[in-house]
Amino acid sequence: MARGPALRWTGGMTATVSRTLVLAGTGKTGRRVVSGLAARGFPVRVGSRRADPPFDWQDDTTWEPALRGVDAAYVAFYPDAAFPGAAGTVGAFANLAVACGVRRLVLLADRGAAEAERCEQAVRDAGAEWTVVRAGFITQNFSEAFLAELVRAGVVALPVGDVGEPFTDAEDIADVAVAALTGDGHAGRIHDVTGPRLLTFADAVGEIAAAARREVRYLPVTPERFVAALTGRGVPAEYATQLAGLLAEVFDGRRAEVTDTVERVLGRPPRDFADYAREAAATGVWDAPPGPPAEPYA
Ligand SMILES: NC(=O)c1ccc[n+]([C@@H]2O[C@H](COP(=O)([O-])OP(=O)(O)OC[C@H]3O[C@@H](n4cnc5c(N)ncnc54)[C@H](OP(=O)(O)O)[C@@H]3O)[C@@H](O)[C@H]2O)c1
Repeated sequence: MARGPALRWTGGMTATVSRTLVLAGTGKTGRRVVSGLAARGFPVRVGSRRADPPFDWQDDTTWEPALRGVDAAYVAFYPDAAFPGAAGTVGAFANLAVACGVRRLVLLADRGAAEAERCEQAVRDAGAEWTVVRAGFITQNFSEAFLAELVRAGVVALPVGDVGEPFTDAEDIADVAVAALTGDGHAGRIHDVTGPRLLTFADAVGEIAAAARREVRYLPVTPERFVAALTGRGVPAEYATQLAGLLAEVFDGRRAEVTDTVERVLGRPPRDFADYAREAAATGVWDAPPGPPAEPYA
């Protein structure tokens, strides 16, 4: 049954409100899920280390307070559901959530990654209604994550070759997740969400450069050079290595297809990369930093 945002009366005089915990609730997809639920009148609890109560994946004593009074959860693991060991933590959280009374779990997972599929299985096994939202490379990585700095510096160096990727907009991911969190017909489904077109990273960076009206180029690099460049910028070595491993795993052509999921679930087309690039450019996020051009990445 669809969840309603209305008050639910339990055992006489006590009123409780069905609430959704949105993990990574200040991140690329989570903050959009928070807005989408709030716009529909669903009470939301933001899952974040800075929220009250705080939620920290690395401190499981924070999980139970965050789950109190919650009946549904958007599960976006940090740093990544595809990183080694993620499934153990995601499974422990999902089991606790169900023990705390959560009846609906919506997991964000990476398309084509083995550990992310183990996360999916762990959520499926937890005993609640579940929906998996699988996504490709999130478009907003270019403007709301570390790639923004590379775009501003003018060289986006990544170990991803020239494979086609159906870049997936965080707005589409969030809208599909909100539909699954609130509506009927999503339980036991895997929603494989992609954008409407395949683009190589060179294509994507070209569209960003055109929208930002400046020179920005894509530079294919080896995983080793990528890791060295990230750690040189202060990124922890473990994270950099795991990210390089994930990129090597999924950018081999296995994700080079588009799906009709957004159209099917939402009744509208997915957001095109060019529309994203135009709107992001207008915010100034890709404007060149003042001063001399930065050293090319790596
Ligand atoms: N990036 C991609 O291209 C991609 C593609 C497919 C799937 N995914 C999946 O997307 C998920 C991440 O979602 P996202 O990209 O929307 O998030 P994100 O933008 O990476 O958001 C980071 C969020 O995680 C929170 N966070 C950071 N460290 C945390 C910790 N130790 N404990 C709890 N929360 C923490 C941050 O909040 P605070 O700093 O306030 O705590 C923030 O809300 C991953 O599980 C990944 O598997 C990503």
